[in-house]
Amino acid sequence: MSTRKVYTISYGCQMNTLDAELVRGDLARNGYEHVSEMSGADVILVNTCSVRDHAETKVWSLLGRAGQMKKERPDLQIGVLGCMAQRVKDDIVKRAPYVDLVLGTANFRSAVQDLEDLRRSGGRVVRTDRRPSADFLPDAGRQVTARPERHRAWVTVMRGCDHACAYCIVPFTRGREVSRPLADVLDETRRLADDGVREVTFLGQNINTYGKNSGEGGLCTLLEEAATIQGLDRIRFLTSNPFDMTEDMMRRFGAVERVMPWLHIPAQSGSDAVLKRMKRTYTVAQYEEVVGWARTHIPGVEITSDFIVGFPGETDEDFEGTRRLVERSELVQAYVFKYSLRPQTQAARRLPDDVRESVKQARNVAIHATQDVISERRNRAVIGDTFQVLVDGVSRTRKEMLAGREPGNRIVHFPGDASMAGRMAEIRITACGKHSLVGELESVED
Ligand code: 5AD
Ligand code: SF4
Repeated sequence: MSTRKVYTISYGCQMNTLDAELVRGDLARNGYEHVSEMSGADVILVNTCSVRDHAETKVWSLLGRAGQMKKERPDLQIGVLGCMAQRVKDDIVKRAPYVDLVLGTANFRSAVQDLEDLRRSGGRVVRTDRRPSADFLPDAGRQVTARPERHRAWVTVMRGCDHACAYCIVPFTRGREVSRPLADVLDETRRLADDGVREVTFLGQNINTYGKNSGEGGLCTLLEEAATIQGLDRIRFLTSNPFDMTEDMMRRFGAVERVMPWLHIPAQSGSDAVLKRMKRTYTVAQYEEVVGWARTHIPGVEITSDFIVGFPGETDEDFEGTRRLVERSELVQAYVFKYSLRPQTQAARRLPDDVRESVKQARNVAIHATQDVISERRNRAVIGDTFQVLVDGVSRTRKEMLAGREPGNRIVHFPGDASMAGRMAEIRITACGKHSLVGELESVED
């Protein structure tokens, strides 16, 4: 039998990218060969995102193209995995009846088995019944060698979310919050480190409360224990929402040298009225207090944030509050999203999507303009400084340069040899743009 060729693509957050990596590992272990073009594939697997309407639109269009291909090659297998599979499985079956496999956010690890079964039996498999629980998580048995980068990796430490932010689909697609046992996370991290990983990023939708019901210690314990793993130089984690964060946690982050000085703390809005309607459970002042703790206790910390513009009822004044918060927060980067109504959510049920698209767009542009000035200023301030950079390899955007990350997670471009990938280099910053730094190599470890 010839090797089956599989094309996989993933939309959405880092956890989704990692979920696709888990499936790729399963496929590789079972003899599938990965191809980088959809046209050459016997199997197409799409790992989907539902966070905004735009993410779903892209999947529908990709499915349309896959369906066309299947008309010419009826033995082509098409699978839809993840958040959209969970949210709109019936629509998928109706609108794209040529899809063979629909697997939800906790069912996707059965993909290989299902593909094999379907080849024998025909028909379709739709499975979205599993929910992550203390007894079941789709993370077990990760093939740690199947990862795109040799020296960096992600590790999912928890899944789902117990909050109910009014705009957010995640509790519906990924369910209640469940933490992986500490020993499992540390074991996977150790196996990654043994295989050459030097930097790990722990992932959770609301990572501050990692282990909250386990009695094993929380996020700080995880970080402190992971920091003792041989070979692991750098630890990052996300997402740290402003709720469930304490000053003492910040002190503990700052005390562990291998925990990098970078935090992603989504603010979402700079208006108390909007935050209240979003059910975010903090005020602007409380957000700024949390940012203040980070700056006090984590030397050299860089903070990134998310903002939603055009949430229902957002007035010019509310928006101006957000713009001013951006101005004050000295973030290194802000990710801005136009509010997108998600069916089922509290906002969809109770609040009209009443901010015009043109206004959302203008507010989006305005936040970016404000943030760009700050990003550039912050970047310019480190010209002349030397950073330790973990070298990723040849830059994706500037092919003549190498790229790596400094402790604060900014991308650093510098001239060098591709064989430096995976090594730690001292880079002196000589120039910058809005979103990256440029430097010169001072030294590199052996
Ligand atoms: N509309 C727009 N942006 C959203 N986000 C989450 N849900 C929505 C939505 N319905 C944004 C938030 C979150 C990021 C991952 O996506 O800013 O932090
Ligand atoms: Fe998208 Fe959220 Fe699902 Fe991640 S958890 S894939 S961001 S909907």
